[in-house]
Amino acid sequence: MISEEEHFRHIMEFLSGLLAEHGDTDRHIRYVQGYTEILAREYGRLHPRAGMTGQRLSWIVKAAGLHDIGKLAVPVRLSERDMCLSENDLRLIRDHTVRGSEMIPQLFDFMGKDFCRICRNVCLYHHERYDGSGFPKGYKREHIPVEAQLVGLADMYDVLLHGPRGRTSYSREMVYYMLMNGKCGNLSPVMCECLENAREAMETFRLAEDGIGGANSPVSA
Ligand SMILES: [Fe+2]
Ligand SMILES: [Fe+2]
Repeated sequence: MISEEEHFRHIMEFLSGLLAEHGDTDRHIRYVQGYTEILAREYGRLHPRAGMTGQRLSWIVKAAGLHDIGKLAVPVRLSERDMCLSENDLRLIRDHTVRGSEMIPQLFDFMGKDFCRICRNVCLYHHERYDGSGFPKGYKREHIPVEAQLVGLADMYDVLLHGPRGRTSYSREMVYYMLMNGKCGNLSPVMCECLENAREAMETFRLAEDGIGGANSPVSA
């Protein structure tokens, strides 16, 4: 009989092929997972009573790989970054958060309620920002679940650093400056602290994944 872990891996392999057609490459998913793991470990170290157990961390890293699963419900033509977007296009793109959260219980029921809750939070809230400038709900401050804040930060970090479809966009120093100064919507003070402490480990991970550093990836899920 197939294990839960294998079942999950098979579904992920299938989904990542589909997601690549919608602009979310394997590379982006892997890097977001790696950055999320580093940030979540730092969060757990800074807040030992926040319940960042090994199990929760592993679920958050898995959920990070699914953050944009809702893009499967968005027309492929809208993943072309150079195209001009109408109000309706923007609404459809932003709706990937809601659509993704709806897909999770159908696809991952076998993983249990706690995993599905974390994963739905990540899908639904990873574009919310601490100051309420995000979407889909415009939630503020502590109303945004920590797992969504962690994945949202990892996602922005990778997109700003690598640009759409792997093209380099900003320098590492500029990305750090932009994130710490709310240029993409404010981060919570806790996320700023995590980023500040974890930035060197994130760079080590990036260099290793880019094949420059030669170290092993920290991704365990
Ligand atoms: Fe997204
Ligand atoms: Fe993403």
